[in-house]
Parts: sequence; structure tokens; C-alpha cells
Amino acid sequence: MFRNAILAAVFAYLVYGTVKYLMFMDVFKVSFKHYPGTCKKVKGARYGSEDMAWTREGLVFVTTGLSTPAVEKHLLATGTHGEIQLFDFQNPTSGVVNLKIEHSKDLNLTKTRFHGITLQEDKTKGEHILYVLNHPSGEDSELIEKFKFSPSTRQLSHLKTIELDNSFFFNNIVALSEDQFFITNFAYMPSKSVFFHALVNLFHVSLGSLHFYNGTSSTAVTPRLLTPNGVALSPDQRHVYVAATMEQSVYVYYRDSSTNTLSLVQKVYLGIKGDNLNLTPEGDALLLGAIPVFYKMVIHLMWALSPDCISPSSVLRIPLGADGLVQESDITELFYDPGDLISGSSTAATYKDQLLIGSVANSLVHCQSS
Ligand SMILES: *[C@@H]1O[C@H](CO)[C@@H](O)[C@H](O)[C@H]1NC(C)=O
Ligand SMILES: *[C@@H]1O[C@H](CO)[C@@H](O)[C@H](O)[C@H]1NC(C)=O
Repeated sequence: MFRNAILAAVFAYLVYGTVKYLMFMDVFKVSFKHYPGTCKKVKGARYGSEDMAWTREGLVFVTTGLSTPAVEKHLLATGTHGEIQLFDFQNPTSGVVNLKIEHSKDLNLTKTRFHGITLQEDKTKGEHILYVLNHPSGEDSELIEKFKFSPSTRQLSHLKTIELDNSFFFNNIVALSEDQFFITNFAYMPSKSVFFHALVNLFHVSLGSLHFYNGTSSTAVTPRLLTPNGVALSPDQRHVYVAATMEQSVYVYYRDSSTNTLSLVQKVYLGIKGDNLNLTPEGDALLLGAIPVFYKMVIHLMWALSPDCISPSSVLRIPLGADGLVQESDITELFYDPGDLISGSSTAATYKDQLLIGSVANSLVHCQSS
């Protein structure tokens, strides 16, 4: 009798755990395609467009070459590497071009694998400063590359490399001022083994955090978070927003401007796994590149280059109030695609009535509302 009761309890727990896990993997999710107008793949985009940063005039810098297992094999086989591409909202039909990076002894261009990007806009001369995360191929290092954009030659010059703790996996970055930024550590990774990653992901161990780099060193400014990914600042820089992918939530922190310490003021559950966060040019909302069906994304990232392994894409618009808080009841989905136009969305930008959507390892899509 007692034995049966225990068996029943164990069985119930296993069923509960399995259903919960399948729900977390989005196995039962149903969604339908909707576009904000006419959406097309952008010419010249390759190997993903994981993150983007843009100027008021609508010049968008896009990172490519984030290494997933399938992409890495392809990049090595074809001798290609991560690029920073330029898209112009004022001339969308021209597509994207790879920006030439001037030779620098401190940057080995054959190894670049770019990830998060942020921009310090130079409103007078157009010589914007870019900070780009780089996980160089075959190396155990986590780097931030600082570039200057030259508007006349449309080239980038490499100014310096900032090396961060290589036991972290840095993901997204937002600049506060020159050489000061917030950066998400997706997970502390004392081991880069696949087995370690699998265990951490299976048991949802919170090994991530948000860091602040003050010009010389970086310190954690939040308690441990589960897979913090996108990070953005409010227009007045008083609030910091963090999308924690596997928590399916956005955290809102108030920033003390003299000490750069943060206090949590809001946590919004979205029910969808968010990737990069960007502030709209109007400063009235956040744009979130999201992952609607997680198990398909996992498969996509392992076998990204196969057309049988597509993963749906979604972009959310998360409005902000004058108090810097998220207006939860007004969150809308701007775009949903089952994965055939764009697979595995990770980031989005808007400019007037246009929308640009990037992906971890697939296409870049431009939408024009009619
Ligand atoms: C750059 O990286 C490539 C590939 O690992 C290597 O063969 C080459 O020697 C490196 N170049 C320099 C200047 O370190
Ligand atoms: C940055 O932080 C470190 C460690 O807390 C500190 O020693 C250093 O003085 C700070 N630098 C600046 C420019 O504030």
C-alpha cells in the first residue's frame, strides 16, 4: 500500500516534470504569421545578423558571424569570418555591405566572430564609435573591439581591444558613455564543454549577471540571473532593461547615476524567450527580437544551415512610460514568421514606418508598412 503510494507520487512527479519541460520548450505553442506590411530578405546578408545598432539618420550597423556549431564549420570551410555590415534605412533596396576594417596588428580579422554591438553617436562629424563583442574563433577569450566609423570612406578603424574575463560568455552591450558600458554575461562558464552547457540548461541554473565596465574593470551589478541576454538604456539613462531569455522576462533597474549601482524596480513576465533589446529611435519603446518556439531554436542553432531546421521569428514592441517603466498591457507583437522568411530572430530596429529584423544564423529582413 505504502509502496504503491510512493510509486504513484514518483510517477505523478515525472509526468508533471515532463509536461512542464515540454511547455518550457514551447512544444504546444501555436502562432500565425503576420507582417507589418511588405517584408523581404535584405540583399547581401549572410551568416546571421545577430545584433544591430543605429544612428538617428537610420544608418544601421549589423554584426555577423556569431558562431553556432553549424556556422563555425561553414565559416572555417569557406575561410570567411564575422563582419560588420551597414544598412541604410534611407536606401533600403541597396541591401547591406560589409564595412572594410583597416588593418590593425591588434585584431586578427580571420578569427572574428561578432555578437552584441552598441554605438556612441557622433552627432556633428558622423565619426561614430562602435563597441562590438568578439568571441574569436579557436581562442578562449572574450573581447570587446572598439572601432571608429569614418563617414567619408565608410570604413572602420580599430581603436583598441578590451579583454574581459574569459570564464564569462558575454552577449549584449549598451554604451553609457565613451569606454563605459553595461554588458550581459549570459552564463558564467568555468567550463566550455558541451556537457556542462547541457546540464546548466537542463536544470536552469542561474549563472548569468549584468556587468558594468567603468573604463578599467568590470563588476557585476545584479544578483545571479538566468541567461540575461539583451540590455538597453532608457533615453535619460536612468533605467537599465535586461531580457533574461530562459526566464521569459524583462527586468527593469533604476540606475544611480553617481555610483552606477542598480535597484530592481519592475520585472515583466512575457511568456516568450527574449534575445536582444533595442530602444526605438523615438525612445518610447523597447524592441525585442524573440524566440517563440525554443526547441526549434535549439535544433536550428545546432544545424542552422539546413532548410529543414528553421525556427520561428517574433518581434515585440514593449512601450515605456514617462517613468521609465514598461507599460505591460500595451505590449504588442509587430511581426511573426514561422521561419521560412527569417529563422531564429534575435534583434530588431525601426525607422519611421520601416522595420529591420536580424537573426542569429539566418537572414536579415526588411519590412515597409503600406
Ligand atoms: C590570424 O589567425 C589565423 C587563423 O587562426 C592564423 O593562421 C594567423 O597566423 C593569425 N595571424 C596573426 C597575425 O596572428
Ligand atoms: C573602476 O573600478 C575599479 C574597481 O572597482 C576601481 O579600482 C577603479 O578606480 C574604477 N575606475 C574608474 C575610472 O572609476
